[in-house]
Amino acid sequence: MAVFIPMGHAARRRANAYCVMPQAHCVAENDLTWLPFAAVMFALTLLSLLPLALALPSPRATVDTSAHCGQWDTVSASPYSLLLDQWGASGATSGSQCAHITNLSGDTIAWQTNWTWTGGSGVKSFSNIQLDDGINQQLSAISSMPTTWDWSQSSSGTVVADVAYDLFTANTAGGANVNEIMVWLANFNAGPISAQYSAQGQPVPVASDISIAGHTWNLYSGSNGANNVFSFLPTSGTVTSFSGDLFGFFEYLIEHEGVSSSQFLVTAQAGTEATSGTATLTTSAYSLVIN
Ligand SMILES: *[C@@H]1O[C@H](CO)[C@@H](O)[C@H](O)[C@H]1NC(C)=O
Ligand SMILES: *[C@@H]1O[C@H](CO)[C@@H](O)[C@H](O)[C@H]1NC(C)=O
Repeated sequence: MAVFIPMGHAARRRANAYCVMPQAHCVAENDLTWLPFAAVMFALTLLSLLPLALALPSPRATVDTSAHCGQWDTVSASPYSLLLDQWGASGATSGSQCAHITNLSGDTIAWQTNWTWTGGSGVKSFSNIQLDDGINQQLSAISSMPTTWDWSQSSSGTVVADVAYDLFTANTAGGANVNEIMVWLANFNAGPISAQYSAQGQPVPVASDISIAGHTWNLYSGSNGANNVFSFLPTSGTVTSFSGDLFGFFEYLIEHEGVSSSQFLVTAQAGTEATSGTATLTTSAYSLVIN
């Protein structure tokens, strides 16, 4: 395709060969008033290329799929963020963790984290996908929180960990945590925070066999020293393919556990609390929307 190079005498001479525009623009070779005409032709040439450019596949929304291993690394993938969140790493004698996003398509994200932690009895990390859209609303303003989470875990040796949603409420938007609501999909040799333990050292649920979102749960309640913690654990087995309305757990707590609907949902995360062992958690599809 011909493109004017508006410089020099030769270019000016060529300009006349393209004198197909209204006569007013067809000027003598040495008349410099042809320059606006060349500029118009140049612009038209670019415009004619535009449909071609638009027809090419549009570049994927750029999401960082590289591995991140830093203690507080975050990767933005709107409407989500991947947070490494290795908050308890100093309690380990050794270990490390990495995570990376593998796919983002609309509201559905896929990601993977691999970790190995040795020593210390506390949680080392909560690498998670955080929802950034729709939070800081009062519970009374939320009608539903549809979610899906399909995952699998491979591990070697004994693993102490959970796979869980972790949600926080506060008295104000962005305020200090008042309630933490955990929905565990798996309990690998770990246990929920509980105010009450049996003589055998087992946490005692405050409510049992609760049906929410197509599964049956036991509810544990206690304090982590900073805020109330409500933990819903499946009554048996693990839930590797979860799909339902997460707001059902809030509705239960509002109705039965005195959580105020004027509380603000300030954090909505889903990931794995890793304490010890070696594992790779692969999330093939995760989505959460607040309506
Ligand atoms: C990304 O996710 C979309 C929607 O789930 C799916 O159609 C697509 O095949 C995925 N791409 C890869 C590379 O996994
Ligand atoms: C996790 O995977 C990354 C990339 O393959 C690797 O470099 C890293 O050593 C792994 N970390 C752990 C703790 O397995």
